[in-house]
Amino acid sequence: MTTDLETRLVEAALAVRGQAYARYSRFAVGAALAAVDGQIFTGVNVENASYGLTICAERSAVFAAVAAGCRKFTLLALASDGGVTPCGACRQVLAEFCDDLPIVLVDALGHQPQQRVQLAQLLPGRFSF
Ligand code: THU
Repeated sequence: MTTDLETRLVEAALAVRGQAYARYSRFAVGAALAAVDGQIFTGVNVENASYGLTICAERSAVFAAVAAGCRKFTLLALASDGGVTPCGACRQVLAEFCDDLPIVLVDALGHQPQQRVQLAQLLPGRFSF
C-alpha cells in the first residue's frame, strides 16, 4: 500500500531531480529522504569537470539532513531514468545512519513501475568501525 509519506517523497524526488547538475553524464538523479520527525530532505547529483568530485543525489540528501540535525530516517525515494538503485558509496553512507531503510526506486520516464528495495538487501556486510 502506498502511504501518504511515500507519495510525498516520490513527488519531492521527481521535483528536485530538475535541479540536478549533470552536465557531463546527462543522468539526472533526485533523492528525497524522510527523517523520523517527518521532515523531508532532498538532494541531487552535482557533477564536476574533474569527474571524481561528483556527488550523488543520495549523499547530498543525507548530508543536508545531518547538517540539519537529523540522523534517523524512515524512507528514501530515488528518481532517475530507469529507476536505478543507489551506488555502492551511497549504500555505505546510508548504512552509517540506518541498519535498514526502505528505498523506493522511481523511473522518471514513467516506463518502469515503482520498486521497493531494502538497504540491508542492497548492502550485506557493510563496513562498520
Ligand atoms: N548518481 C547518483 O546521483 N546516484 C547514484 O546512486 C548513482 C549515480 C549520479 C552520479 C553521476 O552524476 C551520474 O549519476 C552518473 O553516474
